[in-house]
Amino acid sequence: MLQNDLQETLFTEEQILRRIQELAREIEKNYKGKNLVLVSILKGGVVFLADLTREVRIPHAYDLVGASSYGAQIYSTGQVIITKDVTVPLKGKHVLLIEDIYDSGTTLKVVKDLLDVHSPASVEICALLWKEKKKRRHEIPIKYIGFKIPDVFVVGYGLDYNEKYRNLRCIGVLKPEIYS
Ligand code: PRP
Repeated sequence: MLQNDLQETLFTEEQILRRIQELAREIEKNYKGKNLVLVSILKGGVVFLADLTREVRIPHAYDLVGASSYGAQIYSTGQVIITKDVTVPLKGKHVLLIEDIYDSGTTLKVVKDLLDVHSPASVEICALLWKEKKKRRHEIPIKYIGFKIPDVFVVGYGLDYNEKYRNLRCIGVLKPEIYS
């Protein structure tokens, strides 16, 4: 059982889905009548996107950007590779960037710069997890935050360690012996 590799569960599936409903109500209110596109980031962000898009009950499109930190470390390397651009035209649209976790800020910085090239009317960010850091590589304003978490390595709900644990329905802290 994947669950046995967790030291602690931070958020259960129920808690996550309840918080997503709250975020969706805010998003519906703020984007009513606007041409909204949700853009998520492969691969970790797709689970969050799948639940959020079905909860946001106003018309919108969604698309995916491919971005990945290099390697299998538990800390971000500071190098992000873009593997896929959007295909939905973003010019003049209101983009909400959907990310699973805001950690060092590297991924969001690179992806936001990429989206800006498409001349959208606006770009805001929605991150399910906002990690507390003493020092961050890039400080990025996050408009919609699901949960704030301490500076621990988390997996589940799209987040992986060596490509494993993405399919866990909860979010938890991995036992250190798994990666040390
Ligand atoms: C993880 C996570 C975020 C990013 C956050 O992705 O899904 O996208 O790191 O870290 P940062 O704020 O330090 O950039 P990763 O690069 O591991 O790729 P993945 O989503 O394919 O697992």
